[in-house]
Amino acid sequence: MKEHLIIFDTTLRDGEQSPGASMTQDEKVRIALVLERLKVDVIEAGFAIASPGDFAAVKAVAEAVKDSTVCSLARANAEDIDRAAESLKPAKSARIHTFIATSPIHMREKLRMTPDDVVRKAVAAVQHARQYTDNVEFSPEDAGRSEPDFLCRVLEAVIAAGARTVNIPDTVGYTLPHMFGALIRSLRERVPNADRAVWSVHCHNDLGLAVANSLSAVLVGGARQVECTINGLGERAGNAALEEVVMAVRTRQDQFSCDTRVDTTQIVSASRLVSGVTGFPVQPNKAIVGANAFAHESGIHQDGVIKHRETYEIMRAEDVGWSTNKLVLGKHSGRAAFRKRTQELGIHFSSEIEANQAFQRFKGLADKKHEIYDEDLQALVTEQTHARVEERVRLLDLETASKTGARPSASITLLVDGKQVEARSQGDGQVDAVFSAIESVAQSGAELELFSVSNITEGADAQGEVLVRLRKDDRVVNGQGSDTDIVVASAKAYINAVNRLAAQPAERKHPQFADTV
Ligand code: KIV
Ligand code: ZN
Repeated sequence: MKEHLIIFDTTLRDGEQSPGASMTQDEKVRIALVLERLKVDVIEAGFAIASPGDFAAVKAVAEAVKDSTVCSLARANAEDIDRAAESLKPAKSARIHTFIATSPIHMREKLRMTPDDVVRKAVAAVQHARQYTDNVEFSPEDAGRSEPDFLCRVLEAVIAAGARTVNIPDTVGYTLPHMFGALIRSLRERVPNADRAVWSVHCHNDLGLAVANSLSAVLVGGARQVECTINGLGERAGNAALEEVVMAVRTRQDQFSCDTRVDTTQIVSASRLVSGVTGFPVQPNKAIVGANAFAHESGIHQDGVIKHRETYEIMRAEDVGWSTNKLVLGKHSGRAAFRKRTQELGIHFSSEIEANQAFQRFKGLADKKHEIYDEDLQALVTEQTHARVEERVRLLDLETASKTGARPSASITLLVDGKQVEARSQGDGQVDAVFSAIESVAQSGAELELFSVSNITEGADAQGEVLVRLRKDDRVVNGQGSDTDIVVASAKAYINAVNRLAAQPAERKHPQFADTV
């Protein structure tokens, strides 16, 4: 019987710390329910003390999720831990995750604390958290650059104080696989009470090694929890990608003495949901969830796969959920079929009104596109969730013209602050003309940072999904739009981003990076 490898998903906490990836409470709950369906063991839902919004989101996730443990991050102080405990009250199973930095540079420059003080604070934090729950996790931040002797001292002390999981973060993505695996093994050998805790790892991807480091920690070091995010979302170069860790362990069971309980068939839909909600596209050649991950272009490969799949494929596309691209609904499907399929996809509407709106949008789409796939339904709901932001600007009408040798132009009718306004503009292309027409009216003053178009399903009538990222000063927002016409999808995405910018006050700063704990 294989040992259990615990999957701790931090998409909603560390993943959300990517610029522009902030999610609303509803979006977090929707992702949490998909993570639960994926059967991840622990969902880190946020950092309860970071803001009232974070607190409410952790609480809402704790209320909604039943089968996974819900966790909140807390710095090593009583106030953070009390707030985390309060947000987790509704959870069926809750975990408090507390941390303090242990590397010389962090202790000296960020915390301005002595190593002795850090040990005292870590122990006090774990003891305080234990008043609320047995399920306490401790992380020595920047462990990858901490001195191993000091790590042993801190870890022995926090385990003695009641930490049941000790998590070793490579916060800046600095370690190499052979070193990280050896570090975990040596910590487990040297800490006298090591067997009283589950050993976990949390790797960042600055050198592109987050997954390799995590796997080395499991294989060589004996770690039995991996912290990761869907699509590897996370600050800078991101965190270890859940789908890659899980599929490496599952595919190479000949090498691993442990396995996860993840339902891998849910991976692609989780990936698409996170990408749609955050506006972070998935690169086509991304392992497991990229559009090309299972595509065979070259004749030799195609020939081989047709003769015997395993000549070039080490995993089956359907095992990670790629086979969901099948006809599910059409023009004549009724409300009941629509509700049934959205429920099967884990889509929950917050009210009857919202469900009706979604059904009307589905009908509109089915008029334009006769075959509706699961991916279309996901995009439709994602767009509707995005549109939930207060709409300062709304698209009423759009006309574009493009002629060889002439500059493309766009005429647009918008509702801005309740007033109908028309604008015309020219641009380098139709999309450029549309964006400048919208901007001439909306006057967001923002800079366009990212524009990406992807097709949701196959075929010439497929919907295009457009992501637009706008930056204004230090605020970054992502807008999303989908339509069978990509110029319309682009206009919707730009308007959505403008509305998000108007609705979102200055982006909150996570106190994790404040200079004191
Ligand atoms: O990267 C890191 O060190 C963290 C900790 C809070 C676990 O995210
Ligand atoms: Zn991290």
